[in-house]
Amino acid sequence: MSSMTPAQWVQDELLAGRNTQPALEQASAYAPANIALSKYWGKREKSFNLPITGSLSVSLADHGTQTQLQIIDAPEHQVYLNGELQGADTAFVKKLDTWLGLFMPADTHLRIDTHNTVPTAAGLASSASGFGAMALACNELFGWQLDYTSLSTIARLGSGSASRSLWHGFVKWQAGEADNGHDSVAYVLPERWPKLRVGILTVSSASKAVSSREGMQRTVQTSELFKQWPAQANSDLAIIEQAIMDADFSLLGKTAEHNAMSMHATMIGAWPPLVYWQAESVAAMQQVWTLRQQGVEVYLTMDAGPNLKLLFEEHNTALVKQVFSDLDVIQPFSSAKQNS
Ligand code: ADP
Ligand code: DP6
Repeated sequence: MSSMTPAQWVQDELLAGRNTQPALEQASAYAPANIALSKYWGKREKSFNLPITGSLSVSLADHGTQTQLQIIDAPEHQVYLNGELQGADTAFVKKLDTWLGLFMPADTHLRIDTHNTVPTAAGLASSASGFGAMALACNELFGWQLDYTSLSTIARLGSGSASRSLWHGFVKWQAGEADNGHDSVAYVLPERWPKLRVGILTVSSASKAVSSREGMQRTVQTSELFKQWPAQANSDLAIIEQAIMDADFSLLGKTAEHNAMSMHATMIGAWPPLVYWQAESVAAMQQVWTLRQQGVEVYLTMDAGPNLKLLFEEHNTALVKQVFSDLDVIQPFSSAKQNS
């Protein structure tokens, strides 16, 4: 346990010597959602969202969150999600309040207008792009001029996977060892893979009953199968990094799919069992495996939700779309989206 609270760490260390009051009246930012190829599943410390292992993701280009902040003269923050005012007692607003309380002067309030281009709380990483966009917008609003790797620590305090949502491209979040998480930072990898495609297969956009946060905690506490997870996660992470460096798609896809299925095995072994899949999810998995048997290289990954993300390369797009006609195909390295 750290002797500091997250708020003390943010104010005394991360932001030491930087503005404590907003420098502008308003600011806005966009952050892409991200899909982990090697997952973050399990924390070594809860209040700082510190992971047991590192993880590696690919960002989803124009699928993400756009957030605008404006200082208002009001007794509390006003939060609009996709144009709808969110009640002060909702988990959505409470989570934002807690995060803003890490550094925001108590008498300063914001109107927050946030738009998700991915469904919210459906296992499509809205928490990642949501807090990624908040971290970037607050950096502007306060004029902190923090580098993105430092900003990834403050995004992480909102949601672990948000640490990976500040960049386009492949992003690695290293686990770190420190109690206050100063070394649990993310950074963008230099490699680009223009032919890589991520297909989002939406089985359901409904909010899930058990959040990722709760699901991972239940798994760590009750799943015997979780004991073998950290070793596999560390090994998968190293293999995926190497596959990216070697542009070895088969190795990348195989390892990402195995990693996701193993994570889901730890969830199924929890008590009460956690099964985020629906019947349609399993049917879609079987279609992916059939396609692969027919020689089309396509792999799947899934997070804490019923939806699938398919990994394939540009030349197989038409064949994959023949089977999954509703597939939303994302080009993570489309030319306009550079790694920053
Ligand atoms: P998901 O699979 O979509 O990431 P989670 O249950 O992990 O689902 O996270 C959903 C939570 O993320 C929401 O309840 C909210 O706290 C947060 N979140 C989602 N979108 C935003 C946003 N645009 N701005 C701030 N927070 C957000
Ligand atoms: C399955 O980042 O949503 O998507 O840190 O508690 O906010 P908190 O959890 P969150 O968990 C993401 C879990 C995952 C895997 C991943 O994105 O690496």
